[in-house]
Amino acid sequence: MPRQLFVTTALPYANAGFHIGHIMEYTQADIWVRFQRMAGSEVHFVCADDAHGAPIMIAAEKAGKTPQDFVAAIAAGRKQYLDGFHISFDNWHSTDGPENHELSKAVYLALRRNELIETKTIEQFFDPDKAMFLPDRFIKGECPKCGAKDQYGDSCEVCGAVYAPTELKNPYSVLSGATPVLKTSEHFFFKLSDPRCVEFLEQWTQTPGRLQSEVLNKIREWFATDEDGANKLSDWDISRDAPYFGIEIPDAPGKYFYVWLDAPVGYLASLKNYFGKTGKDFDAFMADPSVEQVHFIGKDITYFHTLFWPAMLHFSGRKTPDHVFVHGFMTVNGGEKMSKSRGTGLDPLKYLSLGLNAEWLRYYIAAKLNAKVEDIDFNPEDFAARVNSDLVGKYINIASRAAGFLSKRFDGRLSGDLGVEGRTLLDTLRAHSAAIAELYETREFGKALREIMALADKVNEFVDQHKPWELAKQDGMDAALHDVCSVCIEAFRLLTIYLKPVLPALAAHVEAFLKIEPLQWTDSARALGAHQIGGYQHLMQRVDIAKVEQLFEAPPAPKVVPGGEDIAPEIKIDDFAKVDLRIARIVKAEHVEGSDKLLRLTLDAGEGRMRNVFSGIKSAYRPEDLEGKLTVLVANLAPRKMKFGVSEGMVLAASHADEKSTPGIFVLEPHDGAQPGMRVR
Ligand code: 2FM
Ligand code: ZN
Repeated sequence: MPRQLFVTTALPYANAGFHIGHIMEYTQADIWVRFQRMAGSEVHFVCADDAHGAPIMIAAEKAGKTPQDFVAAIAAGRKQYLDGFHISFDNWHSTDGPENHELSKAVYLALRRNELIETKTIEQFFDPDKAMFLPDRFIKGECPKCGAKDQYGDSCEVCGAVYAPTELKNPYSVLSGATPVLKTSEHFFFKLSDPRCVEFLEQWTQTPGRLQSEVLNKIREWFATDEDGANKLSDWDISRDAPYFGIEIPDAPGKYFYVWLDAPVGYLASLKNYFGKTGKDFDAFMADPSVEQVHFIGKDITYFHTLFWPAMLHFSGRKTPDHVFVHGFMTVNGGEKMSKSRGTGLDPLKYLSLGLNAEWLRYYIAAKLNAKVEDIDFNPEDFAARVNSDLVGKYINIASRAAGFLSKRFDGRLSGDLGVEGRTLLDTLRAHSAAIAELYETREFGKALREIMALADKVNEFVDQHKPWELAKQDGMDAALHDVCSVCIEAFRLLTIYLKPVLPALAAHVEAFLKIEPLQWTDSARALGAHQIGGYQHLMQRVDIAKVEQLFEAPPAPKVVPGGEDIAPEIKIDDFAKVDLRIARIVKAEHVEGSDKLLRLTLDAGEGRMRNVFSGIKSAYRPEDLEGKLTVLVANLAPRKMKFGVSEGMVLAASHADEKSTPGIFVLEPHDGAQPGMRVR
């Protein structure tokens, strides 16, 4: 019986395209999955959009769309990434699909029957203008510890303090600017602190081979008891009040599942949706104890996947995950972490549009990955060096050195003999098959590639010793030349098997060139014999480092000509209409401690709330001269997080391209009679 594997990656929020962190996770899982398929396992590899939650609901509203249309538009953009990077999901679904509504409710009802759901009345901030309870991320105010302004409701980005939103000083709603009020509401909780859950999770998490050791250490911290001896696993608030984009809780009108309740159920929903299309029986499959359920995730969502999720599954009478494989983040140039919320640096679509080969990146990511929860760094020089010296220099080179002689001198037919030395070399390569398979199985991809490249080194040494280019010039050496080149092609085929999980598109080209069936893992035990191959065509280019550097270049700065600036390229009236300019009153203007460029402006644009805008006009204005004046605000500019706080727009000012030249900077001011809130058109 082949192994039956149900494999997932984390479901991405349906509010943006993918950043390099997603591509890294998908690549890791895809390599593992492709290896399993080559080894003969039956694999079902699925993913879906994580569609629900307040942030997506609010983003949709801002975009003037229904949440359903909003997430559908995001979903339509997934294919270009997945195809582009050769990610071979069998299915892509959505947590808003009917299967997920049904399964999430079924899981919940089973937990309720097991007396693991309870209700508690809690007090929460409520936005009176928007008539909705505010998630922590949508409440801001002054940090209760250090007084920093504009801090989120859960933690301070200046001093690092963690607190409840109710502790903020002068809190305001990010949605409306209104001062939130405290309001009570009944919430549903999953009783994770129940002794049955604690006992189950202790046993589940400690099962040997299930979790990585670093993950287990983290879990031990979460399990640690506090000073009173009470267990720290706390009950989990799984409900949210309307308005909310999510799944309505059975028998509780106006209450919805918190997005993290239905998100992992989305794994099952995507599989069910997939089986619905292929005619396979979902319930029978999930009831089969030999099925292995495997989740690939990032370290930031470990708690959800190693505590809540297995407990939800177990106490709703379902199969629990066999493995949760946790990886670290991807950084670029030793720099900023690329978590899901801050994807900057290496834009995957830009990578593809520059014509950079997706398999270079797959190879590089694989070369850096191991089975630990370590961050990995993308470094352009390192990237170019590894691809050029390993992949092209060591591996591709083997085929290009041998193929020409074979087609010119032997009509593409391989020699059946190969010679003693050649056979010994090939035996060595074959003998590594099991060890390399084990490295793929255990996600030690970096080690696997090092083993494979060490084998490629041996093949190149063989070529250097036997010098086919010299044999080709000598009389009577045809048979030797034939053997050496045939050994190279057979070695190249073996190395291609070993690299195929990482380089699927390249392997397909090699299969076409060698005129062979798609390579499986067991093909390493076979030999081509006197087989006829096709003509060699170049299989892979070298990396041009200049192209890689382009990836990190900011878009070109506008051209400046003496005496002024070029007029920007023509736009249509619709383009202009996208910019929402409003009259705003400068209620307050202040110096910003530590900045020699900025003034902090408090602006009233007639919205019933104040806006905080940082403006680079300190060199030209004293704050007191600005207070009370009207100006023009770009009101729909995305908020920008700066060192000193968040800037919620931009005021208009005139200057030469070089702001430091005379006469300086001039803030725009409307004629008399204009009022805050008026649109400038
Ligand atoms: O952190 C995230 O991006 C979540 N959308 C992951 C969800 S994984 C699963 F539970 F759906
Ligand atoms: Zn603080």
